[in-house]
Amino acid sequence: MLTFRTLCSLPALLSTTLLTHTLAYPDGLIGEGKGTAKARFATALTGGEGCDSDDLNDIREGFADMISIFQAAIPFEPAGQPATELFGKPYMIRNYTDMISRNLQRAANYGKVEGTEGPANADIHVRCDDPMNVCRFGNKREGSHSAYNIGNEPHVNFCNDYFELGGLEKRVNKKAEDQMEREKLMEYYTRATLWARMVMHFSEIGRAVVVRAIPGPPNSTTEWTLSKTEGAMNTSVLAGVLNERPDNSPSDVQTLKYAYGVTRAKLLAVLSTQMPYDAANNAENYALYAQARYVLREKGFYPNVPVMDFPNEASVLTNENLQDGERFKFAYFDMTDVVARPAGMELKGKPLSSSAAIHNIRLKSFVTSFVCWTFYMFVQAGC
Ligand SMILES: *[C@@H]1O[C@H](CO)[C@@H](O)[C@H](O)[C@H]1NC(C)=O
Ligand SMILES: *[C@@H]1O[C@H](CO)[C@@H](O)[C@H](O)[C@H]1NC(C)=O
Ligand SMILES: *[C@@H]1O[C@H](CO)[C@@H](O)[C@H](O)[C@H]1NC(C)=O
Repeated sequence: MLTFRTLCSLPALLSTTLLTHTLAYPDGLIGEGKGTAKARFATALTGGEGCDSDDLNDIREGFADMISIFQAAIPFEPAGQPATELFGKPYMIRNYTDMISRNLQRAANYGKVEGTEGPANADIHVRCDDPMNVCRFGNKREGSHSAYNIGNEPHVNFCNDYFELGGLEKRVNKKAEDQMEREKLMEYYTRATLWARMVMHFSEIGRAVVVRAIPGPPNSTTEWTLSKTEGAMNTSVLAGVLNERPDNSPSDVQTLKYAYGVTRAKLLAVLSTQMPYDAANNAENYALYAQARYVLREKGFYPNVPVMDFPNEASVLTNENLQDGERFKFAYFDMTDVVARPAGMELKGKPLSSSAAIHNIRLKSFVTSFVCWTFYMFVQAGC
């Protein structure tokens, strides 16, 4: 009897230790293990609706991985091969070079450690409960969204496919060794890349060129003039941007495809049918650029496949299979990955650590007690 009681009190002790341990490490903390110094980011992750503790772990690790790739992507090098392929030739994008460079810098600022000088990026509300019912859209051929942004605010929902994505370091090490796949940029797509696409949608981080057609002044010879301002970054469409010219029939919109994945991201930057800022306006292009710079820094080579080398543009524009590119896109082509926040939905998430952790521990203690109680009953009956 006594022996059993002693045994049973042991897990209780352990779970108390575990509880204190979990509470002592609030959100945003990474770098546990692997002998790295512990650092707590100035930006915290909040909310966590519908996420279990494993999910939250994957989300935190992806966030830290994302910081690593953005830090490899600054300063922006417009003349380098990754930039030329993913944003366009330097003379084509010269009007947008500063914008691109500032976007990358703001994203890299997520690496700011708490307690250091300077402003910090806002906290990010993360969730897994799919409040807008977007995760279920998609099909076998085109895929579905692995995550989506809500309202160009720091608010991201992670779908099931996110949790299938690998960690950065392991994936890059593995693919760089693989003779068949090492040159393919898409093979390096990880949760870091997806996270990077998501933060570029935050209006605080990613700024894009907003073009509006406005009617020309009365009696002027031009019917329309274009006004260019900056706004939040969304996802560009292939072969023509959506515009607001009233003479454009709405059915056109249906034929436009969103540019996710390396093939389409590169097409934005090379096709003459695209505007020079389409690539700079596409969150995925920043994510892939950062991914490429990271591989370049870590492994010393730039994975440049697919190479955009085709006899004529028409051959690409009329070939949907070619445009489709990679098999996995981690997104759904027919749908934007930014959805509006409905009125009444909270932007701010509740602090994460305590509630999520305690919930789990309580469950564990409950299981422990139950096991002890069963043993106790068993032994009683035996005696
Ligand atoms: C850059 O901006 C200037 C001034 O707005 C414009 O005249 C020029 O055509 C632009 N160049 C490119 C390559 O977009
Ligand atoms: C992105 O979408 C938001 C919300 O619809 C809009 O305000 C913003 O202007 C868009 N950005 C661009 C570059 O069109
Ligand atoms: C536009 O042209 C008409 C006819 O030529 C003239 O009567 C009118 O005053 C003009 N309006 C402006 C704003 O110049």
